Amino acid sequence: MIKEILEIPRILREFIKSPFVFDATALRKIKLAKRILIVGCGTSYHAGLLGAIFFEELSGKPVRVVSASEASHQNLNYDLVVVVSQSGETKDVLEFLRKIKPKKIFTIGISNSKNSLLSRLADFNIYQNVGLEKSIPATKTFISQVAILLQLALMGNKKNASLHESFKKLPNLMEKILERQEKIRAVAEKYKSFDKFFILGAGFNFPVALEGALKFKEAAGILAEGMLAGELKHGPITLVDKSSASLLIMPKDLRYWENLSLLLEIKKNGGPVVAITTEGNKDLDKIIKDVIYIPKTEELLYPFLATLVLQFLAYSSGVLRGYNVDKPRNLSKAVRI
Ligand code: AGP
Repeated sequence: MIKEILEIPRILREFIKSPFVFDATALRKIKLAKRILIVGCGTSYHAGLLGAIFFEELSGKPVRVVSASEASHQNLNYDLVVVVSQSGETKDVLEFLRKIKPKKIFTIGISNSKNSLLSRLADFNIYQNVGLEKSIPATKTFISQVAILLQLALMGNKKNASLHESFKKLPNLMEKILERQEKIRAVAEKYKSFDKFFILGAGFNFPVALEGALKFKEAAGILAEGMLAGELKHGPITLVDKSSASLLIMPKDLRYWENLSLLLEIKKNGGPVVAITTEGNKDLDKIIKDVIYIPKTEELLYPFLATLVLQFLAYSSGVLRGYNVDKPRNLSKAVRI
């Protein structure tokens, strides 16, 4: 898992140098699509949630994301379906593709396996090409899926020159985060005995909260709940006390002040808080002890940076708790049942 996390900046740099090339049909389908559906499971589902945000933000097109375990049971009516699966072998994903085949909906598959069953079923395939991911908790394949979905959403969106420029800088920013491993490990050490963890994100960082919580479950055996930050006060806050830890993903973006008021509320209730925020933000050090800084970037790109922190934090927590982070029990790399 750690080897694969450390590969991420290089993988992203290579992706930026040679992004995926689309054929004319796929390009036309993406540009003309009015109703888009993204389907995946687990981490790939979370990548899909971010993909939907990118599409809606950048092209204004509505996008729905459905877990593959549900998608086969719904009467879905879309003109473009994007299926995300690093293994390309996940049973629920394949079942869904077989089910919609007769509907002749154009399907794009995103997978890290060139000759997977998924690649035989989808109309157009995007090969992630990030090298085999051996660790069961997916890390590098998630970042690559999210980068590909961003590329899809950016297609035909020339007005986003500044986003393109910021995206190119991400690998360097990620390297900066990985230089701070000691700080993140120290946070993991401090919180390693907590069994109750809330991971909270608003807006673009909600899927990151879900993905971070999944990594905590898989790699560290911690029952972490990923949640919309705004939902905490509608019930779960009753569980907040000194025995539960909360991690707030709160870069200096449009949602920052809402997040800050939530942080104060959690503190008032005696809950320990870790915050991930933007470098240069001096507010939080005065209020809490555990702040992890990420470099400044565009709002839409913070999910890449916050995810990397959470992956490393979950990995470190798992190692410190004595877990086999690469092979969590009861799990396999491709869920075929
Ligand atoms: C990821 O850390 C998990 N092991 C799991 O949720 C996984 O993402 C899910 O089973 C889907 O796998 P896929 O991407 O190969 O379809």
